[in-house]
Amino acid sequence: MKLRLSLVVLSCLVSIITGLVLSRGGAKATAARTKPVIGLSLDTLKEERWQRDRDTFVRRATGLGAEVKVQSANSDDVRQVADVQALITERVDVIVIAPHNGEAMAKAVQLAHEAGIPVIAYDRLIKNCDLDLYMTFDNLRVGELQGQFLAEALAKMAGGKKRLIRIYGAKTDNNALLFKQGQDRALDPLLKSGALEIVHEDWADDWKPENGKKIANAGINKAGHAFDAILASNDGTAGGAIQALLEEGLAGKVLVTGQDADLAACQRIVVGTQTMTIYKPLKQLAEQAAECAVNLARHRPVIATASLDNGQVKVPSIFVDVVAVTKENMRETVIKDGFHPAAEIFQSTGDK
Ligand code: BGC
Repeated sequence: MKLRLSLVVLSCLVSIITGLVLSRGGAKATAARTKPVIGLSLDTLKEERWQRDRDTFVRRATGLGAEVKVQSANSDDVRQVADVQALITERVDVIVIAPHNGEAMAKAVQLAHEAGIPVIAYDRLIKNCDLDLYMTFDNLRVGELQGQFLAEALAKMAGGKKRLIRIYGAKTDNNALLFKQGQDRALDPLLKSGALEIVHEDWADDWKPENGKKIANAGINKAGHAFDAILASNDGTAGGAIQALLEEGLAGKVLVTGQDADLAACQRIVVGTQTMTIYKPLKQLAEQAAECAVNLARHRPVIATASLDNGQVKVPSIFVDVVAVTKENMRETVIKDGFHPAAEIFQSTGDK
């Protein structure tokens, strides 16, 4: 008993120690500087969620006495590397990156490390580099929840074999691969048993809604109106797909998934043109990321609770959980959490 207890204590200690992220020493100016400076390099600010990530991150970091320099690369790898180089030149203490391309940004991590600046990957993984910390949502779980939702909803529908159009995200985003992997996990049994057939599938470059629409249109060209669901990987691409459905008089007649709980998606869900989304508590992730960044800038250790192989190292990681949202639990999730006000979500239904 005593031995088991000390083994448990020991293994807890080991996991805490393996999860410790220490600052790389930081830019030389840090020790003398009372106000830490954090660089935040975002892929894009196009989707609603990234604006919220930025605002929450900046608010929390500023509240902790830091200054934040924000850059957004407009989905351009060359520009994002240049953004990070500019942050290095400005001698920031820590750089937080939401990469457009998880492979291409390894170079930016290397440049930051050469200047002694630690790097946190935010939401999306940066591969094949000596990354200091990765903070994200449980992305496999996102895909799994989308797939499970469809599997259960399709099973309740009358008729035989069900037919599906699948819209994946940007191939350059490691998250898009994880969402697909999670979806596959939930859908494979149905595909293998022949209860489900994919009529069309494709990757939406840069997660653009117009690419989501093109993929839905291509699916409709192949299947006509004979399909039951569109598995869109996020709300932006779902919005594009729903536009295609509206033009065909099919909106509200087929199931459509999403992710992000964007206001427009929540509005579509209560109206009935989109069926579900995934709520990712951005406040929790962005605030925690700001806290970790400020701690690293102040040379305080950060404790990671997990680790993830990025192809080169096991990156100390922190994962935040997610929730599936439908019309039925909209009030208990998105609204209760203050993510969007009820009045805005229900604005066209007249409900409060
Ligand atoms: C994020 C999603 C987002 C998508 C497009 C993914 O990496 O995890 O929340 O919808 O990128 O920006």
